[in-house]
Amino acid sequence: GAPQTRTPTGAETGAPTTANGQQGAYLTTANGARLRDTDHSLKAGPRGPVLLQDHHLREKITHFDHERIPERVVHARGAGAHGVFTAYGSAEAVTRAGFLKKGRETEVFVRFSTVLGSRGSADTVRDTRGFATKFYTDEGTFDLVGNNMPVFFIQDAIKFPDIIHAAKPHPDREIPQAQSAHDTFWDFVSLHTEAQHHTIWNMSDRGIPRSYRTMEGFGVHTFRLVNEAGETALAKFHWKPKLGVHSLTWEEAQLLGGIDPDFHRRDLYDAIEAGAYPEWELGIQVFPDTPEETFAGIDLLDPTKIVPEELAEVQPIGRLVLNRTPTNFFAETEQVAFHLGHLPPGIDVTNDPLLQGRLFSYLDTQLTRLGGPNFPQIPINRPHAAVNDMLRDGFHQHAVHAGVAPYRPNSLDGGNPFPAGDAEHAFVDVPVTVAQAPKVRANPASFDDHYSQVRLFWLSMSPVEKEHIIRAYTFELGKCYHQAIKERQLRSLANIDPVLCEQVATGLGLPAPQPTVPLADVAPSPALSQVGREWPSD
Ligand code: HEM
Repeated sequence: GAPQTRTPTGAETGAPTTANGQQGAYLTTANGARLRDTDHSLKAGPRGPVLLQDHHLREKITHFDHERIPERVVHARGAGAHGVFTAYGSAEAVTRAGFLKKGRETEVFVRFSTVLGSRGSADTVRDTRGFATKFYTDEGTFDLVGNNMPVFFIQDAIKFPDIIHAAKPHPDREIPQAQSAHDTFWDFVSLHTEAQHHTIWNMSDRGIPRSYRTMEGFGVHTFRLVNEAGETALAKFHWKPKLGVHSLTWEEAQLLGGIDPDFHRRDLYDAIEAGAYPEWELGIQVFPDTPEETFAGIDLLDPTKIVPEELAEVQPIGRLVLNRTPTNFFAETEQVAFHLGHLPPGIDVTNDPLLQGRLFSYLDTQLTRLGGPNFPQIPINRPHAAVNDMLRDGFHQHAVHAGVAPYRPNSLDGGNPFPAGDAEHAFVDVPVTVAQAPKVRANPASFDDHYSQVRLFWLSMSPVEKEHIIRAYTFELGKCYHQAIKERQLRSLANIDPVLCEQVATGLGLPAPQPTVPLADVAPSPALSQVGREWPSD
């Protein structure tokens, strides 16, 4: 049959590629005609006017006019780096993912980001940080699209537009929440108390990291792993930085926002260029795949909950080293497109309702951001596995596909790719049983506990960490214009801890309310404090 033409992989082209630019020593037009002059328009005499026939002028200005693409709807501000992931082999018992087999090395691209600021905003603001990793595995790309905090504000993706609308700049004034009025953010998190857990992480020192190199990363959701025998386990992913977790003080963050708004971007770039390659260990917490999908009474499908490391150890499964800065920020860091559906065989999704919505959102937003359906062909997004799909045409199509027509079965075109069936390296959707239950718009009752893990976090903090948290709540709530919102948030703090509530209330000059739910009976988790932890070493 006819051979299938496919887009060359990143590995074959040596991404990033300059194949479409910067060849040869001479300046040319986009069509390769050598130019004598690019500094003067073609004019009717030296005093003009400029001639419409100046095709070089028009090409140059027209292309410039279209240089900008939309920034990401969230996580617009970021910095990226290339690296290598080396597997220890310790995950082989629970997943058949080839890149996790002992000694296997896989190229990666990582993009760190803030969530709320626009592309030009400051790095050191109090915010969650994105930690998104693209593993170019030979069984297809795996994107681990995580954050530097292990929980999320909401339990259901249908609330994502709402929380982001509440936290982004005001529609009338376009004043970012991080620098001015905070009413809508605190209105949201005090009305949607499921957000209190993520919020206390934000108010802690984790919200102002010292460096991308000193952040943990978390896949947040529970994933389903499948091994060679088809057995499944549930798992959460953790990145642990070799340098340990470190934060700025609030004063440092404020000063740097003015003095060096690119502080984190510069730090990442300078460290790699100096050969001080940042490193992380990837680890997994593994849980039995039971029908209840709970562990130690914790609902594993609730993305506002952690499983304390004391209850389920984080087992190291590999090491990430970032060793190469991008050649071109736009081509790589800006155009990289992560997607939770990019899964290799051996890693599958669960029914976490936040994860389920994310599976839709990333591809959808990238269709607009990256101008149509062919952005997987952009060098930074190209898989390093062979691609032989039946997707055709569309804006910016770079592949020259051969063959009669891409459909299957097909009695005319023997060259069409064939499904792998049960062959090795084929992705298998785990045939989990789907509940026979009425359609509802509702959460399970286990999602209703909004406070016990917030209290667990608070009780796990050292005295200085507690002091910072009190000051952060007081400062941020102090920016609200509406007293009713401050009072409502204080009622949430009362349900977390009376000392926390009293201290913040005093700072705000308001009375401390009584709790409305009984205080959770939880033991502190030392692994949650940044003070006095042990981190991987050589
Ligand atoms: C972007 C993490 C929840 C929609 C990102 C990025 C990260 C991230 C790290 C930046 C990717 C990059 O560097 O290009 C997370 C985490 C979540 C979460 C850890 C919760 C556990 C959600 C939800 C939605 C969503 C619930 C929507 C339903 C988006 C969108 C982008 C984005 C639209 C922009 C993607 C692009 O333009 O390429 N997210 N996110 N996220 N996220 Fe999420």
